[in-house]
Parts: sequence; C-alpha cells; structure tokens
Amino acid sequence: MALAFKLPRCNDRAGTKVIQRKMRTQIGIVGAGPAGLFLSLLLQRVGIESVVLEMHTRKYVEERIRAGVLEQGTVDLMHELGVSERLKRQGLQHGGIELRFGGRGHRIDFRELTGGKCVTIYAQHEVIKDLIAARLAANRPIIFEAEDVSVHDLESTVPVIHFGANGVVEQLQCDFIAGCDGFHGICRTSIPSGALQIYDRDYPFGWLGILAQAPPSSHELTYAHHDRGFALLSMRSPEISRLYLQCDPDEEIANWSDQRIWQELRQRLATMDGWKLTEGPIIQKGVTGMRSFVTEPMQFGKMFLAGDAAHIVPPTGAKGLNLAVADVRVLARALAEFYANGKTELLDRYSEVCLRRVWKVQRFSWWMTSMLHRFANDNPFDGRRQIAELDYVTSSRAASQTLAENYVGLPMD
Ligand code: FAD
Ligand code: PHB
Repeated sequence: MALAFKLPRCNDRAGTKVIQRKMRTQIGIVGAGPAGLFLSLLLQRVGIESVVLEMHTRKYVEERIRAGVLEQGTVDLMHELGVSERLKRQGLQHGGIELRFGGRGHRIDFRELTGGKCVTIYAQHEVIKDLIAARLAANRPIIFEAEDVSVHDLESTVPVIHFGANGVVEQLQCDFIAGCDGFHGICRTSIPSGALQIYDRDYPFGWLGILAQAPPSSHELTYAHHDRGFALLSMRSPEISRLYLQCDPDEEIANWSDQRIWQELRQRLATMDGWKLTEGPIIQKGVTGMRSFVTEPMQFGKMFLAGDAAHIVPPTGAKGLNLAVADVRVLARALAEFYANGKTELLDRYSEVCLRRVWKVQRFSWWMTSMLHRFANDNPFDGRRQIAELDYVTSSRAASQTLAENYVGLPMD
C-alpha cells in the first residue's frame, strides 16, 4: 500500500478540532486527469509508489466531456499498460481526415502518408474510466474530493502537499510532486512568478461543441473552412456525433437553440455534391475558449508540471490529451532512472526534453487553427490566402505528409 500514516495529532483552530495527519509517499500527484492517471500507472509498473489527489468526485471526472482523438502512441501506451480492453472493442480507427473548403472535400490519407499510422476515436472520459478502474483494481490510492490542495517546500528535500479529506487536514510528504492539475490548477501558480517564463496567445473565438444522438454523417473527421466560420464534424460512436462550430469566445449558449445550431452546421458543412448532415437530439452543448500557452521551465525544485498545467493548445490539432501523455512518459522514465540508479540526469532534462515536443505541437495546433478559422480582422485577401493554403496542403504530397505526420503524432524522443 502506498500510504504510510504517521503521528496523528489534534489541533484546536477557531474552536473546531482539526486532526492533522502525516503521510508519506514517493510521488504526490495532483490531479486525476489523463496526465496524473497515466503517470500513476506508469510509476506503478516500475514499482514506484504514488498518491493521486483529485478535487472532484469520481463521477465528475468520469463524465466530463473533453477530447476524442488518440494518437497511435497514446493507444500503444494503453495496450502496454493493460488498460485497452474497452478501447479495442469501442475505439474507432481512422486512417485519414477530410479537409472541406469551397464546398468540396479533400481526404488526407494518414496510412498512406505515414507508413500505416492512424488515430483512434475514443472519448477522453472513457480513457479516464479505464485508468481509474485499473488503479483502484491494483488497490492504489486516488483521493477524490480532496479539499484546499496546496503544495509547499518545493525547494526542500521533502516537498509537502496539504489537503483536507473528511474533516482531516492531511500532510503528504513526498520525494517529488507531479503537478498534473490542468490549466486552472494550483501547482503552476504556486511557483514564484519570477521563476517562470510564460508564452501565450488568445484567439478571438471559441468552439461551441455538441453531442448529438445521430449517426456520424461521414466515416472520418471533417474539418470545414467556411466564410461563416470553422466547423468540425467528429464522433464518439456509430450512434453519437460530436460537432463543433467556431463562435465568439464569450458566446452565451442560451442564444443557441438546437435548431439554430443545426442550421449553422448545415451551412458551414454544405458541399456541392448533395452530402447530407445527419441530425438528431442534442444531448450536451457547451462553449470552450481557445488559447495557446506554454510555461518554461516545466519544473520548479522538486515539482514537475505535466499536461495542461504546463501548456495549452487550441483543440484544432486534437493534441492536448496526447501531449499530456507524452510529458508523463518522459517524467516516468526519469523517475524510474532516479529510483533505479540514483541518477538525476533525466530529471534535470525533463523540461528541456518535453518542451522540444511541446513547441512542435504548439506550432502545429496554431497552424491548423489559423488555416481553418475566420479571424475578426481578416479581409478578402486573408480569405483567399487560406484557400490557397488548403489547396496546397491537399494537393502537394509533401504538404499533406506534413499534416499527416503531425496529426498521427510525432515520434517520441
Ligand atoms: P486535465 O484533464 O484538466 O486534468 C486535471 C485534473 O486536475 C482535473 O481532474 C481537475 O479536476 C484536477 N484538479 C484541478 N485543480 C486541482 C486541485 N487544486 N487539486 C486537485 N485536483 C485538481 N486533446 C486531445 O488530445 N485530443 C482532442 O481531440 C481534444 N479535444 C478537446 C476538445 C475540447 C472541447 C477540449 C476542452 C479539450 C480538448 N482536448 C483534446 C484537450 C484535452 O482535453 C486536455 O489537454 C487534457 O484533458 C489535459 O489533461 P491533463 O491531465 O493535463 O489536465
Ligand atoms: C473531438 O472529437 O472532440 C475532437 C476531434 C478533433 C479535434 C478536436 C476535438 O481537433
């Protein structure tokens, strides 16, 4: 068992009895998203103990609708970790995507352009369910509904995480802390601001996303450029479509009736060959902002940041989850090396190694976003330039290959 309890004691604060309890583990992981959970299983595999702290309930994290596209490397890792049973049954393998512009579709054939690679459509919350089930089946701790999580003594030899659980104030002493608590988490913001360099870009639009009880209208994902704005047709299963529309970043979802959403999707996805959008009841809708963001370095003292806690990409490249997985692979390897041989070289290079990939993925996600969306200040010149770029990407093998190799996932270092 990864938890070791020490020295329970009582403390009278503001008239209420607060029990303080000390625990110890090797790696304290903040956040049970893809980064935190994959890391916990990677560490478990090499005999390193960890405790995962999550502020939300299990139900909440298992139902939160997020990403849908898994790179080959992410799928391979799920196989390696023995958590791919449902993925094998339910995942939809896609060997290409369609870029739609000027009312015509153009396929980018991943398998042909990348030597057989493809992506898999499998919802992020299904991945989360698989990872949580595996962790709990191995009797390893995930503490849900952890309150007031805070990180301390990051530059000391024993960093500590404080949190509340069931009325008890816990102090979790660790060898290292993994800050896997997403963009709005507390780990990055606990680092003195002078120690980090932030690079970011906001986009003047967001995505309105829906889940609909409607069979997908195409076999593969369709990214559509249109004068009215970008649209994306994706899916979750042979019965459920996932669709997105470019919208204002602070769009009120209440202004979008189901009828208006379908009307807008029909216009933006329309083709000249009579293709028809399959419609059905909308079962979930929401608006997401778009941002590019990088923190450098991704480490402070004994705390390592991974996933959205360290970087955000706009979703047009379908990369956020996959990048989180790539970070924790590097971190797990470095920690394994440390515990096996006492060597810190890989830990010292964690940030540098991750950032090489992070910046390539940032570039790709920014490029896909700029090629496909309408920007407020665009003039007719920009519209023509975007069409020329799409024309080039879909007609030049070199350009298609560039898109394909980035989309299926760059090789791990
Ligand atoms: P998160 O998933 O945000 O997990 C962080 C966890 O930490 C959460 O469970 C949170 O509750 C917890 N937490 C936060 N603060 C605390 C605290 N103080 N204490 C304890 N716990 C805390 N990516 C792709 O790869 N492919 C896609 O197709 C794709 N599509 C997307 C579509 C949309 C609409 C959106 C919004 C995102 C999409 N992404 C996609 C991005 C992807 O969902 C994220 O990049 C991914 O979830 C990052 O994982 P993470 O573990 O770093 O962070
Ligand atoms: C999704 O299915 O949620 C999805 C697919 C492709 C993207 C982003 C999101 O680029």
